[in-house]
Amino acid sequence: MQIAIINGPNLNLLGKRETNIYGNEDFDVFYAQLKSQYIQLELSYYQSNSEGQIVSKIQELGFEVDGIILNPAAYSHTSIAIRDAISSIKVPVLEVHISNIYAREAFRNHSHISAVSVGVISGLGLKGYNLALDYFCNK
Ligand code: DQA
Repeated sequence: MQIAIINGPNLNLLGKRETNIYGNEDFDVFYAQLKSQYIQLELSYYQSNSEGQIVSKIQELGFEVDGIILNPAAYSHTSIAIRDAISSIKVPVLEVHISNIYAREAFRNHSHISAVSVGVISGLGLKGYNLALDYFCNK
């Protein structure tokens, strides 16, 4: 089973960025652990700070892989283009947020992505990616 993880803007700074909210772990190190924990899956990982590149990646993977785990980061709250890209593909998308977007500033309380996702995991830290992978493994 092929599962793709896509992270949006500023998530390349995990481990350095607002560590009180997002923790101290570097995503590349975490991803290497995921790869060794889920050897039964064919995992891929893509990060971009650009909305258009994320749309293109969703279009590209959306007819290829079996599931997408997407943390759209700040674009969750603004991007109709990413939402439309998800609506346009066949592959199920599971939305993940490291922090609890419902317990933060009001502008983070709404995600354009949730209504077109199979589910949302928010506030469980990087563990949310494990739980998302578990969902696809047990599906
Ligand atoms: C985030 C939450 C977003 O509100 C924020 O813009 C991010 C990260 C999270 O993983 O908690 O960059 O998606």
